[in-house]
Amino acid sequence: MTTRKRIVLSSDHAAIDLRQAIAAHIANQGWEVVDIGPTTPESTHYPKHGEAAAQRVASGDCALGIILCGTGQGIMMAANKVKGIRCGVCSDSFSARMIRQHNNANMLSLGARVVGEGLALDIVDAFLNAEFEGGRHATRVDMIADIES
Ligand code: RB5
Repeated sequence: MTTRKRIVLSSDHAAIDLRQAIAAHIANQGWEVVDIGPTTPESTHYPKHGEAAAQRVASGDCALGIILCGTGQGIMMAANKVKGIRCGVCSDSFSARMIRQHNNANMLSLGARVVGEGLALDIVDAFLNAEFEGGRHATRVDMIADIES
């Protein structure tokens, strides 16, 4: 039996529809999606959702994470406060590919009020299909980790 890779998804109220579209899209690609909500549209606070998703990645429970809020910015800032998390906001597919290849990003953040669904799914695909290149980039990513310790 093949072990499916687990990915955590979370958002605030501004991005529930896009998050659920992404969940369906990547589940179709064979990912085991751990969608930790929220599922109801009441206004909520993005830091707690960003932190909760980041903890799933930092603990090793999930290999990667995708988080969303209105701009993608606030929830990214919260996630990056968790040790071991490297999360970038992307509004284009090139950046999404590069944050994996060069920065070994383990989380992607999207702004549901910034990108439409079609572009968001393309960004997600670029992120998930790219691999870290290591080498000189590993030296630099290690330097980021050094800042945390
Ligand atoms: C919520 O209105 C909004 O501030 C939030 O989704 C996000 O854009 C913050 O960075």
